[in-house]
Amino acid sequence: MLRRDRPIGVFDSGLGGLTVVKEIKKINPQADVVYLGDTARIPYGTRSKQVVEEFSVQDAKFLEKQGVGAIVIACNTASALATQAVSQAVKVPVYEVITAGSQAAAAATHSLRVGVIGTRATIGSHAYAIGIKDLNPKIIIHELACPLLVPLIEEGETKGEIINLVLSKYLKQVKQWRVDTLILGCTHYPLIERLIRSQLGNNVRLINSGEEVAKRLPKLTGKGKDKYFVTDMTPRFIKTARLFLGYDIGDKTERVKLT
Ligand code: DGL
Repeated sequence: MLRRDRPIGVFDSGLGGLTVVKEIKKINPQADVVYLGDTARIPYGTRSKQVVEEFSVQDAKFLEKQGVGAIVIACNTASALATQAVSQAVKVPVYEVITAGSQAAAAATHSLRVGVIGTRATIGSHAYAIGIKDLNPKIIIHELACPLLVPLIEEGETKGEIINLVLSKYLKQVKQWRVDTLILGCTHYPLIERLIRSQLGNNVRLINSGEEVAKRLPKLTGKGKDKYFVTDMTPRFIKTARLFLGYDIGDKTERVKLT
């Protein structure tokens, strides 16, 4: 059972999960959020299931120790590969982005053709495809790993020539699928949603899985008091956090060791 009087715990491989915090705050401005970004070990998207499970369980247990009432796995890779392991490791309810994104996509598609883009690990797990097929076996799903997008976005390349060039390489393939719905299956992609939209046009519905999980959380109460933890803090931290969240969290952030 979700304890509404407790803060909500959110974890990610790094700071990308702050895009999910942003969505939670839009719907539940009063929510108290405890965020953990495993910045010392990002990326998860290039790693094996075993390692992603190991890291994710450590992340979730840390949040549980902070007294959270529920955990949101903001990271698509961790949601895809480690939801089961995390759910078994903690006592609090666990929400994740794959189920939410799959439900939204299955409801949105008219042509029954859905595309998914994400990290190599997320795409390799076929978690979205499995989630969508469970809801409607008639839906045809196309998946594509876009490994160049995370490092570019992390470097602040969210507009301009370079990101548009890389995107056009990936979206060329997406266009060939003739889907009417595309899942942005990575914490970082909402930052380039406008670019994706301008390349794909208005006939493709874009699903932001972070927004979808935020919509599916029960109403959260609290005082809007947030706490942020990271496993590494470099001088770039403030800038990157601002990029994903929209405001500064430097004075609310603490570095922690998980092991
Ligand atoms: N947070 C990850 C995801 O949503 C992207 C970054 C990484 O590879 O760790 O899949």
